Amino acid sequence: MSTVHELLSKADNISLLDSQLILGSVLGCSRTWIIAHHNDVVCEKIQKNFLSKLKRRMGGEPIAYILGYREFWSQNFLVDRNTLIPRPETECMVEIALEQLPNTPTTVLDLGTGCGAIGITLATERGNWHIIANDISGSALKVAQRNAFNTKNIAFFRGNWCEAIRPGSINLIVCNPPYIERNDNHLNHLEYEPLSALVSPDRGLYDLRQVIKESRSLLVKDGLLILEHGYLQRDKVYQLLHNHGYINIEMFDDLSGKPRIALARFR
Ligand SMILES: C[S@@+](CC[C@H](N)C(=O)[O-])C[C@H]1O[C@@H](n2cnc3c(N)ncnc32)[C@H](O)[C@@H]1O
Repeated sequence: MSTVHELLSKADNISLLDSQLILGSVLGCSRTWIIAHHNDVVCEKIQKNFLSKLKRRMGGEPIAYILGYREFWSQNFLVDRNTLIPRPETECMVEIALEQLPNTPTTVLDLGTGCGAIGITLATERGNWHIIANDISGSALKVAQRNAFNTKNIAFFRGNWCEAIRPGSINLIVCNPPYIERNDNHLNHLEYEPLSALVSPDRGLYDLRQVIKESRSLLVKDGLLILEHGYLQRDKVYQLLHNHGYINIEMFDDLSGKPRIALARFR
């Protein structure tokens, strides 16, 4: 039998925060409890469970997959290996979307919802909006549906980008598509996340182009499209939007000052 302190000291090359979070999750306790009970003895079963999760973390698996959730916009979203782990830069998209339209009846489409972070957050923040969210991955949609158990104004369906959506019916489309090039070195650090959520052909632009092209027929007059893109894709995305007839194009940086989000209107 080991104490809390002895167990935490087995962590190597990972932060104390992560090992405390893992121990908290197997014990069902908060970090504060862990900090206040350093000398408590932990039973064999918990110890074994903790050490197996600690090993996964020390092997490089993201903490979100080990805990089974990631916080986004102050809500914990369930995630698993079928869903991308939502990123803080994507919260900027949510912020921009919320600034565009008031809380009056509005139809919003979240394309490629993953674990549902964008769509569910918009639905929670704007009770009068109706959100439609799709994904090509049935396994990701199952996770999104679990995350939305308490959210009434969102509906999910499986689909390939804009297919099977009524033309001219959407006020706002939000999309964080796959946009990483297949041979991009960043993928070495993302080995646990689904490639289908990350990688896009044609230098990472294939899916962005599809969404820009297909969204036009779904939007009402003056409808809005908000896209997340790679930080080196700003000019290309601007050009694609311009070439496909969008107007009032604005490009935004993420919290670390990297160009990451495009907003455009279709007339
Ligand atoms: C970068 S992830 C974004 C997930 C989530 N929206 C977020 O921001 O955390 C891209 C998502 O698009 C989905 N996707 C990829 N190709 C798609 C397609 N052709 N149609 C619909 N969804 C697609 C992936 O399964 C994945 O969930």
